[in-house]
Amino acid sequence: MTIPPACPTLLHVVGTRPNFMKVASVMAAVERWNAGCAASEEVSASPARQRLRQVLVHTGQHYDERMSRVFFHDLRLPEPDYYLGVGSGTHAEQTARIMLALEPVVERERPDLVVVVGDVNSTLAAALVAAKLRVPVAHVEAGLRSRDRAMPEELNRLVTDQLADLLFTTSRDADANLAVEGIASDRIFLVGNTMIDTLDAHLPKALEGTVLDGFNLDHADYAVATLHRPSNVDDLGDLERLARALARISERLPVIFPVHARTRANLQRLGLWELVEKRARLILTEPLGYLDFLSLLAQARLVLTDSGGIQEETTVLGVPCLTLRTTTERPVTIWEGTNRLVDPYDEDAVVDAAEAVLAAPAEAAHRPELWDGRAGDRIVSVLAEWLRRGIGVGGHTG
Ligand code: UD1
Repeated sequence: MTIPPACPTLLHVVGTRPNFMKVASVMAAVERWNAGCAASEEVSASPARQRLRQVLVHTGQHYDERMSRVFFHDLRLPEPDYYLGVGSGTHAEQTARIMLALEPVVERERPDLVVVVGDVNSTLAAALVAAKLRVPVAHVEAGLRSRDRAMPEELNRLVTDQLADLLFTTSRDADANLAVEGIASDRIFLVGNTMIDTLDAHLPKALEGTVLDGFNLDHADYAVATLHRPSNVDDLGDLERLARALARISERLPVIFPVHARTRANLQRLGLWELVEKRARLILTEPLGYLDFLSLLAQARLVLTDSGGIQEETTVLGVPCLTLRTTTERPVTIWEGTNRLVDPYDEDAVVDAAEAVLAAPAEAAHRPELWDGRAGDRIVSVLAEWLRRGIGVGGHTG
């Protein structure tokens, strides 16, 4: 759809794998909004709604075919308008490079709002650039807190939320976290979960796929494992304990383990690759695309992970999830869902927790409040109204 240049501009910034599912929901909702505007223009000369123009920036924090390209394809995301190509580096290098490359883009586009999602370095860098140029910032997935400042994502969340003008949350505990940090309630909007919007939109197609056929499983029972947190995979002792736990669980049922680039590099560097590679039923693969991974998750008997988003996806799918961390920023997945925390530094505890899940009856899928596939539409309604009222930056003094 052609959007007149005078329309308000949203500039979305993404950089990593878990960002792509979230922005896909918001961008699709903007398309629906614009289609609704076109319909109302046909019946009224002065329609109440105005169209929104959107610009997509990919920082290039994740750049591999398997960490990035395949997601654009699976999620039918448009080609980014800007690709910053920042690549890997230390946190300071990565954050600084994103800021340096993004600043001229924001100056050129002069968007009415910069939209950031999640908690990665690209999220923080984009929020900082926009706020310093006095461009309002909307943060999707605001307010999540693990209360563990050793997690780089926790620092990114804390700072991004302080910089944001509009904060979109997935759960009431996130609203409460923001209130405690002094953020005015009229800037906080409980809208639901954009990651679940994308899951709902793609699950039927994912289940049509044939990814499972490629793993030659002799029966349908299998587990899926993912690991990438520095706190789990950067230290020899910690990574070895988890590798051993996965190997032991694979004696009970096949474990499909898509290996993140950081984890693969560390397994090889620390001499642990053979430990995992030699196990017949510990099935190592490259990172998978969105549809293939969703299909595997949906049909799994058990998931072991240190990811954030997978805790939410398994809750909605009703698949038991053992989160290999001591904290979670997503407690609603424990209170209401299928998730539980397991001490990743205790090999026996991980194996015992897996045994307990396998011995228990299947769990019911559960949807926390507003995880109904419509978070993106709620976000766009709020954004459009906020832009229409022209509140702009400085609408808050916090
Ligand atoms: C980042 C995010 C994390 C998110 C995760 C999902 C931050 C602080 N962390 O962590 O929140 O859950 O992404 O994957 O932003 N690499 C590749 N190919 C790529 C990207 C990375 O080989 O396309 C390699 C890098 O060279 C590096 C390692 O993977 O050695 C880690 O990448 P990086 O983006 O720094 O952090 P993640 O651990 O992926």
